[in-house]
Amino acid sequence: MDISRSLTEKLENRSAGIGIVGLGYVGLPLALEFARAGFRVTGIDASAEKVTLLAEGRSDIDDVSNNEIREVVDNGKLTATEEYSAVALLDVAIICVPTPLSKTKDPDLSYIASAVEGLKNHLHPGQLIVLESTTYPGTTDELILPILEETGLKVGVDFCLAFSPERIDPGNTEFPVRSIPKIVGGVSPICGNVAATLYQQIIDKIVPVSSTRTAEMAKILENTFRSVNIGLVNEIALICDKLGVDVWETIDAAATKPFGYIPFYPGPGLGGHCIPVDPHYLSWKLKTLDYTTRFIALASEVNSNMPYYVVSKVVDTLNEMEKSVKGSRVLVLGVAYKPDIGDVRESPAIDIVEILELKGAHVSFHDPHIPEILLKDDQVMRSVDLSVDVLRQADCTVIVTDHKDYDIQHIVDNAVSVVDTRNATKVLTSGKEKVTKL
Ligand SMILES: NC(=O)c1ccc[n+]([C@@H]2O[C@H](COP(=O)([O-])OP(=O)(O)OC[C@H]3O[C@@H](n4cnc5c(N)ncnc54)[C@H](O)[C@@H]3O)[C@@H](O)[C@H]2O)c1
Repeated sequence: MDISRSLTEKLENRSAGIGIVGLGYVGLPLALEFARAGFRVTGIDASAEKVTLLAEGRSDIDDVSNNEIREVVDNGKLTATEEYSAVALLDVAIICVPTPLSKTKDPDLSYIASAVEGLKNHLHPGQLIVLESTTYPGTTDELILPILEETGLKVGVDFCLAFSPERIDPGNTEFPVRSIPKIVGGVSPICGNVAATLYQQIIDKIVPVSSTRTAEMAKILENTFRSVNIGLVNEIALICDKLGVDVWETIDAAATKPFGYIPFYPGPGLGGHCIPVDPHYLSWKLKTLDYTTRFIALASEVNSNMPYYVVSKVVDTLNEMEKSVKGSRVLVLGVAYKPDIGDVRESPAIDIVEILELKGAHVSFHDPHIPEILLKDDQVMRSVDLSVDVLRQADCTVIVTDHKDYDIQHIVDNAVSVVDTRNATKVLTSGKEKVTKL
């Protein structure tokens, strides 16, 4: 019997039960989308706190409002649990757990492994399992499939398995989940077709590819492309500095070319769960095949040196005022890894704060989205109020993340000196002489 027929039917008439494993930045918006489309959705999360939050109709993700969650929780379309036993009653399980790096920058697949073990115990005929977590090519076939087949069930015959990378951009309201084309690769053609039918229910355009490996590779290509191009433009910033050329003006001029050029912008370094992490998954995999991924290594080296470059700009700025960094007060504005979100994972702002502290500066920070940060040695630093006094008392104010809440003219008017890592001060009508840009 073709297992795809009954599953396809259940998906098309929206009677299928859908499980989302991991209710974070990726899983929660996805759960919401399926629930809104009329599916019965069960979120499975290892965190009791997340499960309680959801049961109370609350969201901890900037892009998802409490009202949106409350609506689907109240109408019974979305529930959450810590228990994998819920999988027994589900037709689909989509894995959205973290894929971080270990301290030695090797892939940490322990979250995926533990999720798949949880699913395995309740896998039943007719089920579809999809991995959305970003990982190296081969993970679905080499890691997940053997664990699931330990049950005696056969892929493509008894159950389906596919990989479909998540491509959302948290904080970017221009591209909601529905509008981002969804790449889907199955372990077999049947698996690919069923997974495509699943996503057709909530996403406008599906991009089927021939294998899980291609789907895994496509996602890593996207993020490696960003990492390498950001690395290139960060090096161009260093080069422009040596030449006495404004890098921002240079990029704006180059970007007028109507073909063959895509503008990327320099900054304080890479942040977030994806761009600084994902290319290392590919490097690790290629190391096992005796190949060195040189572009990834070079981009990583340039990008991870940017916090040191920012600190060198602070040192130069203080030097101009005949002050040493030791004992000076430095105010860091914005510690999220990008504007208008409350995510501090891998943020270069943390490195900047720690390097400055190591040099003896008195560092404080403000971020409208992040109340506190955790530094080395478990030191907790709390966000200060962005008052006129705080601005005036700092010897140097460093704009690390240009949240749109920031009134840049007001900040510069009241700051003693400013280091701007994002070209946020391009809007200034006065006070440019106080500003050092990357
Ligand atoms: N955040 C992004 O912008 C983004 C974009 C595209 C792809 N991705 C990828 O998506 C994946 C998830 O990222 P995220 O940002 O949503 O992570 P996250 O940390 O925000 O959320 C992960 C959730 O999984 C839960 N979890 C961990 N282990 C679990 C387990 N064994 N069983 C059940 N729940 C478990 C955690 O409690 C957490 O709620 C990663 O592979 C990431 O690379 C992230």
